[in-house]
Amino acid sequence: MSHEYSLVTIFGGSGFLGRHVVRALASRGWRVRVAVRRPDLAVYLQPLGRVGQIHAVQANLRYPESVEAAASGSALIINLVGILFQRGQQRFDAVQAEGAGVVARAAARAGARLIHVSAIGADTESPSLYARSKARGEQAVRDEMPSAPIFRPSIVFGPEDDFFNRFAALARVSPALPLIGGGHTRFQPVFVGDVATAIAKAADGATTPATTYELGGPEIKSFKEMMEFVLTTIERRRLLLPIPFAIAELQAAVMQLLPKPLLTPDQVQLLRRDNVVSAEAERDGRTLPGLGIDPTSIAAIVPSYLWRFRKTGQFRPRTS
Ligand SMILES: NC(=O)c1ccc[n+]([C@@H]2O[C@H](COP(=O)([O-])OP(=O)(O)OC[C@H]3O[C@@H](n4cnc5c(N)ncnc54)[C@H](OP(=O)(O)O)[C@@H]3O)[C@@H](O)[C@H]2O)c1
Repeated sequence: MSHEYSLVTIFGGSGFLGRHVVRALASRGWRVRVAVRRPDLAVYLQPLGRVGQIHAVQANLRYPESVEAAASGSALIINLVGILFQRGQQRFDAVQAEGAGVVARAAARAGARLIHVSAIGADTESPSLYARSKARGEQAVRDEMPSAPIFRPSIVFGPEDDFFNRFAALARVSPALPLIGGGHTRFQPVFVGDVATAIAKAADGATTPATTYELGGPEIKSFKEMMEFVLTTIERRRLLLPIPFAIAELQAAVMQLLPKPLLTPDQVQLLRRDNVVSAEAERDGRTLPGLGIDPTSIAAIVPSYLWRFRKTGQFRPRTS
C-alpha cells in the first residue's frame, strides 16, 4: 500500500522500538514526524528515510499543548512512549497513563488514526505500578479512540535492546548473574523488527479495529533459561545465583538510586508474573502469526550483537 505524502507522527520515535518503526513507515512511503522531548538528539533518524522524509519536533506527553501541536495535520499517530523507571517528573502515571490519554485525545482532535503500544502484563490489579499505569493508558485509549489497535509486546530484543545487552555486560564484569525469584518467570522474547512490522501492518489498515494484540516470539523461556542463553552465546561460565523476591526487592531499593538502575523494586513486582502471550490472544489470532508474521527466534538474532561480550571479543560470523 502506498502512503506517499501521508503524515504519521510518532511519539517516542527516538527510542529502541522507535527507530525500527520510523524505518518501517518511511520505507512504506509515509512522511514521518518524530515527536520527542529533545529533537536535536533525534537527527540520527533522518538517514532512515529519503531527504526531507523524516523530521523531528518537540513534544512532551506531560505537556498536552505540545502533544496537540505535534499531532496536528497527521493522518496517523503512533504512541511508543514508555519509561522503565521513575525519575523526577517522569512518573509512570503521568507518562504511561495520563500521557496515553493526552496522545489519544490529540489524535481524536486531529482526526487521525491511532496505534498505541502498551506491554504484556498491563493490568489494573498488577502488583507493579508500571503494569497498572500501562493498563490505565490502554483504558484511556479505549475511552478516547475505541477503534485504535493496541499492541502489547513481551520483552523486546534487537541490537540496541536493554535486556540481553545489559545482562551480557553484567556477565563480563561479575562472577554471578542473579536469578530473581529463582529465575522461574517466563518470557516470550519478541524481535524488534517483528514488532515494527506488526505496527506497519496496522498503519496499512491490516489490523482489526478496537483489538489488543499480544506480541511474543516463537519460544517461551524462563528468566534462568535466558541467562543460560546469554552465557552460552558469549562463551562465559558464571554462577547463576537464585535471589528470593524479598531479598531482590531490598537490593533493588538501593539500586534504584543509580542513574540507570539494573533493577527497581517495581520491576521485581513485575517479575512475579509471567510475561507471555495469553491463551485468549492465541485463540483469537491476536498475535504475530495472526497478522501473518512468522516470529523470529532469539537464536537467529541475538548472537549477532552479543558477540562483542565474548572473551576474545572477536567476530565469528554465523554459519547457518
Ligand atoms: N523494550 C521492551 O522490551 C518493551 C517491552 C514491552 C513494551 N514496551 C513498550 O514499547 C514502547 C517502546 O519501548 P522502547 O523499548 O522503545 O522504549 P525506549 O527506548 O525507552 O523509548 C521510549 C521513548 O519514549 C520517549 N519518552 C519518554 N518520556 C517521554 C515524555 N514524557 N514525552 C515524550 N516522549 C517521552 C523517549 O524519548 P526521550 O528521549 O524524550 O526520553 C523515547 O523516545 C514503550 O511503550 C514500552 O513500554 C517495550
